[in-house]
Amino acid sequence: MNIVLLGPPGAGKGTQALRIAKTYDIPHISTGEIFRRAVADETEMGMRAKAYMNRGELVPDEVVIGIVKERLEGPDCAEGFLLDGFPRTVAQAEALEKELSKSGRELDSGLDIEVGRASLIKRLTGRRTCRACGKVYHLTFDPPQSATTCDACGGELWQRDDDTEETVSKRLDVYEEQTAPLIDFYNERDLLVEVDGERGVDDVFSAVKQLLTA
Ligand code: AP5
Ligand code: MG
Repeated sequence: MNIVLLGPPGAGKGTQALRIAKTYDIPHISTGEIFRRAVADETEMGMRAKAYMNRGELVPDEVVIGIVKERLEGPDCAEGFLLDGFPRTVAQAEALEKELSKSGRELDSGLDIEVGRASLIKRLTGRRTCRACGKVYHLTFDPPQSATTCDACGGELWQRDDDTEETVSKRLDVYEEQTAPLIDFYNERDLLVEVDGERGVDDVFSAVKQLLTA
């Protein structure tokens, strides 16, 4: 199954992606995670990406397209993949289509998780992530026992640098301007499936499974 996960920042792409990847046994490829790892490792690409991310802007297409192309050539992607946070511009979507067609592949679904702006702001500003194991919490919706320590591994919980109120607002604007046009792009190709992401995590996942197996 070849899937792209659309949806604004904070819609729950990462949360649902973990469940989808496990259920359908496909690799979860998050471009945001790839960039955050590169920032933590202080690579040249990471340093370049960091400035864009912290301003809430998109990393330039040529950087992200190259990374995804290389990743999709991995043998683990031959039987399917789940892209989370890519594509984010029409140019990225066109590049993906072209790249897949070279190897005789195509997308099966563009899954769009829809959540309103007020909920997105609450979800993003309350998110906490474990530095050690990557587990994601929410201070209100999925609270850890301690606001600073991971229940699963005891690692330190941190707030993403781009989850401040000011940067969140910018990210949501950038989504509307540059990424929302992909809804039409995938609708025109009859690939778009839309799920109401305002509900609880388990209800959203049930809806996702129904849509993907329909
Ligand atoms: P990226 O990491 O992809 O961030 P994003 O798209 O802004 O999305 P988030 O990861 O913030 O949210 P999510 O939808 O995954 O939500 P989550 O499940 O965590 O990208 C970061 C940056 O990298 C970009 O701004 C850009 O600079 C760069 N970048 C990445 N890809 C790029 C590309 N293709 N091109 C150019 N630049 C790129 O959930 C959020 C919170 O809500 C959590 O606390 C969670 O516990 C909670 N939650 C989840 N679901 C629910 C629910 N149903 N009910 C209540 N709470 C919930
Ligand atoms: Mg995410």
